[in-house]
Amino acid sequence: MNVLLVGSGGREHAIVWKLLQSEKIDKLYCAPGNAGISEDAICVPIAAMEIDKLVAFAKENAIDLTVIGMDDPLVAGIVDAFEAEGLRVFGPRKNAAIIEGSKAFSKELMKKYGIPTAKYETFDNYDAAVAYVKDQDLPIVLKADGLALGKGVIICNTLMEALDGLKEIMVDKKFGASGNKVVIEEFLTGQEISVLSFCDGKTVKPMVSAQDHKRALDGDKGLNTGGMGTFSPSRIYTDEIAEDCMKTIFQPTVDAMAKEGREFKGVLYFGLMLTEKGMKVIEYNARFGDPEAQVVLPRLKTDLIDIMEHCIDGTLDEIEIEWSNNAAVCVILASGGYPQSYEKGYEITGLDYVKATNDLIAFHAGTALKDGKFVTNGGRVLGITGVGKTLDEAIVKAYKGVLLVDFDKKHFRKDIGIK
Ligand code: AMP
Ligand code: GLY
Repeated sequence: MNVLLVGSGGREHAIVWKLLQSEKIDKLYCAPGNAGISEDAICVPIAAMEIDKLVAFAKENAIDLTVIGMDDPLVAGIVDAFEAEGLRVFGPRKNAAIIEGSKAFSKELMKKYGIPTAKYETFDNYDAAVAYVKDQDLPIVLKADGLALGKGVIICNTLMEALDGLKEIMVDKKFGASGNKVVIEEFLTGQEISVLSFCDGKTVKPMVSAQDHKRALDGDKGLNTGGMGTFSPSRIYTDEIAEDCMKTIFQPTVDAMAKEGREFKGVLYFGLMLTEKGMKVIEYNARFGDPEAQVVLPRLKTDLIDIMEHCIDGTLDEIEIEWSNNAAVCVILASGGYPQSYEKGYEITGLDYVKATNDLIAFHAGTALKDGKFVTNGGRVLGITGVGKTLDEAIVKAYKGVLLVDFDKKHFRKDIGIK
């Protein structure tokens, strides 16, 4: 089979790594990919949002299956565009990707179908939103309705912060049209767990659990980032909790989407929080998480192409998905200064040592090739995943990799997996 993957981050490198294990692959393309991906797949210089060009490429190159890694093209309707040309594609259609693309939509869905989540109100009128927050307890959470590169959530500890935040989102339009509506919700506390799942529109099969460290500095301090590291499995997500989530969250969500005429096919990501009052949904995403994919996919034993084909065909109930009873930890190597300003272009050394092991993987996120050498080219540069029999073993392995790989201004957290 000829397969095309759309996206360019560490998540896409992890998908490439897993797809390559399939005997079904003849040629694997990635658009646009990145420098690390170019060692494993044929990178095509088409951006993820150039949907017409991607469709044309798929037709010209006899692509049998296209996999969409990123959220933006999904929300923009890339799956519908491929299907309209009779092309096979893995991911939700536009009318289902809205579960990530609009927080107002996902909150309304949860309210309508009784899926546990934080209490909230939605506003498109600034004055009404201001009046509402003045009456609420603190802290309070503001969420721009649409996609905002993961930055559209503001947790406000004071009324002043809430009023400033509302102005930024609704008046100054810091996140563009994503801020035409705002969801204002109750602040919840508890540990966050990411459970990604495969869906075929009716059946949902959860993957192994993961936890993400979002803050830039050790001890969950510093600014929010795209994610500084992940580990799988979560220590607090017991079999009993998993069974309960299946009954109260996972299947109800997939059924609700089907009832609304928005069949969800693809990867549905449940961002959960274990609160004192039980598990609640913090967010949905319509794709693999980044960097969750970097710890979940290394634990998957079943052929990923087979699973994706069953999702597309609506026969997910017919395939058994097998997972290794092991653990994985991914430590992100970032450029010093991330998530704010940082420098690029530093040479990366030691990647060959990682390649020489069989229990370490270096997933590239922000790298480039310069004179035949890898250099830093982004905030999150690499994700070093260690796989071990237990979480403790995987932590030790991942940090061995972190020491082997080096570049100027390398920044990483020292407590990934330790929580
Ligand atoms: P989201 O983009 O919806 O995932 O939000 C980003 C992050 O903000 C989440 O991963 C949580 O850490 C935090 N967050 C979002 N909603 C809430 C909430 N209602 N209470 C507490 N923290 C939240
Ligand atoms: N790790 C969070 C996300 O992928 O949205």
